[in-house]
Amino acid sequence: MLLTCQSGFEELLRAETTARGLGAVLASGAGWLQLEAKLGMELPELCFAQRALLEPVEIAGPSVNAIAGQLCEWFAASLRGEKIEGAWPIVWQAPIEIPGLGRRLGAVEDEFAVLLKKRLSRVAKLATPSLPRGTGPARGLFVFATDFGRIFATRSVWLGGQRRMADDSAAPSRSYLKTEEAFAILGREPAPGETVADLGAAPGGWSYSAAKRGARVVAVDNGPLKGGALDNPLIEHRMEDAFPFRPAEGQRYDWMFCDMVEDPRRVLELVVRWTRGRWCRHFVVNLKFGHTDALALLDTLLYSSESPLRDCAQAHVRHLFHDREEFTLVGSLAE
Ligand SMILES: C[S@@+](CC[C@H](N)C(=O)[O-])C[C@H]1O[C@@H](n2cnc3c(N)ncnc32)[C@H](O)[C@@H]1O
Repeated sequence: MLLTCQSGFEELLRAETTARGLGAVLASGAGWLQLEAKLGMELPELCFAQRALLEPVEIAGPSVNAIAGQLCEWFAASLRGEKIEGAWPIVWQAPIEIPGLGRRLGAVEDEFAVLLKKRLSRVAKLATPSLPRGTGPARGLFVFATDFGRIFATRSVWLGGQRRMADDSAAPSRSYLKTEEAFAILGREPAPGETVADLGAAPGGWSYSAAKRGARVVAVDNGPLKGGALDNPLIEHRMEDAFPFRPAEGQRYDWMFCDMVEDPRRVLELVVRWTRGRWCRHFVVNLKFGHTDALALLDTLLYSSESPLRDCAQAHVRHLFHDREEFTLVGSLAE
């Protein structure tokens, strides 16, 4: 199995796979780890993995044409006995840290498209070059280039749901992209008329993201709101400490957001107050692990009886595409 992650976080992914008993690491490089494990679709939820290529084939060759030719042969053989009736995803990925590798993989992609069209034109026409949304298993063709002479390819992946999001020029911060990505992972987003408490809101990227969907936001932060969050009629700015903030008696927010640069354990205690108190229905919380042991924090979330995940019908912890030294917790409370 080949796991991909954000470049620079391979060691954390390695530690996570060891902690989950996923077997020996055979090789690694920028943004990937190859594991001995053959777990099929029963992969445990992983925070630092963006994608798992299950039982991938390794294709090496001295040229673009050699690699594309072998890939086409293998792909055609893998289709035997399978009927492709609808659109199917074809996804190409190369670590951006290796200059020119993306261009090289693009050339393999072009040559593969020519070969596939010649050989299986109906299947080629149904190819959709986009990553499926959401988390969990998916089928299609997924290709990852580790270097100029080698790719890994598979028909089956497990998706963590991380993806690059489109920016919005009115968004007051880059943080905006994180909450956009978090909604895609949860499979749910604020709806018109829903209510949001945004704790540590300034300059207002997350508040803006909710308000742009028609939700009403209370943005709690002593700092100023900016850009599309400033003077937004759907955003009420409260300049106060977010830790003691709570809903009025009998009130329940639809969403609680929290993106404070604070000790993550203190933030977790706050989140537990919100989930135990049933003060919200859904949450998006970013935990900064720059000054702490990220794996120990993850273990607390996954295994402690005091974890907010205990109160959830659905929850995911992910190192987002747009996260740095932080990971993001999304969840919906059990009714
Ligand atoms: C990373 S920024 C939030 C960015 C925001 N999510 C966005 O999209 O623009 C962290 C914010 O947390 C706020 N913060 C830290 N501690 C806080 C506290 N105790 N109460 C309220 N805000 C706090 C800081 O003032 C800062 O504006």
